[in-house]
Amino acid sequence: MSDLPTTDQHRERDVLLDVRGVRKIYSGHGRTVEAVRDLTFSVGRGELVCIVGPSGAGKTTLLKCIAGLLEPTSGQVVLDGRAVTRPPESMAVVFQEYGRSLYAWKTVEQNVELPLRHKVKDGRRRRELVHEALAAVGLADAHAAYPWQLSGGMQQRVAIARAVAYQPQVLLMDEPFAAVDAQTRADLEDLVRSLWRQLGVTVLFVTHDIDESVYLGQRVLILSSSPTVVMEDLTIDLPGERTQLETRSSRRFAELRHHVYEQIQLAKHRRGSDAPATPPSSAGAPQASRAEAR
Ligand SMILES: Nc1ncnc2c1ncn2[C@@H]1O[C@H](COP(=O)(O)OP(=O)(O)OP(=O)(O)O)[C@@H](O)[C@H]1O
Ligand SMILES: [Mg+2]
Repeated sequence: MSDLPTTDQHRERDVLLDVRGVRKIYSGHGRTVEAVRDLTFSVGRGELVCIVGPSGAGKTTLLKCIAGLLEPTSGQVVLDGRAVTRPPESMAVVFQEYGRSLYAWKTVEQNVELPLRHKVKDGRRRRELVHEALAAVGLADAHAAYPWQLSGGMQQRVAIARAVAYQPQVLLMDEPFAAVDAQTRADLEDLVRSLWRQLGVTVLFVTHDIDESVYLGQRVLILSSSPTVVMEDLTIDLPGERTQLETRSSRRFAELRHHVYEQIQLAKHRRGSDAPATPPSSAGAPQASRAEAR
């Protein structure tokens, strides 16, 4: 895999999100955990970047720091030239637990409208945005339903519609499809890619699923075990038009997933405090249809 491009080759771009030396140490109850040691990377305007790393590597911690929900112990997150010190208006987050992120007593439409209330004062415009977003995720007919009347995949689409209606500049997604079945997951992956292409939003997508990261991303950031650093920043040089069947059965896809899998295997044994990783031989490459970074 000597021909894998690294991101240093495309540094010349319009940076929207800059993560500079972010470190996070949790302390309390007599316990100190250095979750993230030193994370530095940037995301260009309109890019779709995936983050993979072993369980407990600090991916959620990192997203919370980026979203302004958690203060880094040191380092800085800069969005469009301004330091993030609280949740920026231009950012939306989709979490894994859609069950907990939707209000059971509000309809689908009301759930999607809620975060817009303080942003878009004109009620008519707000309802328009809600209906457009629900149509974009294929839920136009479900606007009057309650979340508990929907399947898991539909609930997750409501959460995505809520983020889309908000018209964020940056969309952060933390393992949003971990709890849905494989077929629904494939559909939701395509939904994210098509929304990203239509809306020009910048997406940072955290996943455990190596195949998902390669299929979705323009770049994949591979994190080490905790205390976490970026082990590799890999450009995914697959065509922009991707389909589940053709892209996933292409030779390049197989090469890229193989490489990410190898790096993740290294990452499991390599902590941020160790030397930089070098890929091992191809022994032990995954043959299963989906490889997990767990
Ligand atoms: N509020 C907290 N207080 C103390 N330690 C925490 C807290 N939140 C997370 N941690 C610790 O920080 C480390 C990273 O956790 P984090 O949830 O960010 O990892 P992750 O990569 O998202 O894991 P997963 O893949 O399982 O979702 C873990 O060791 C975890 O126990
Ligand atoms: Mg997590």
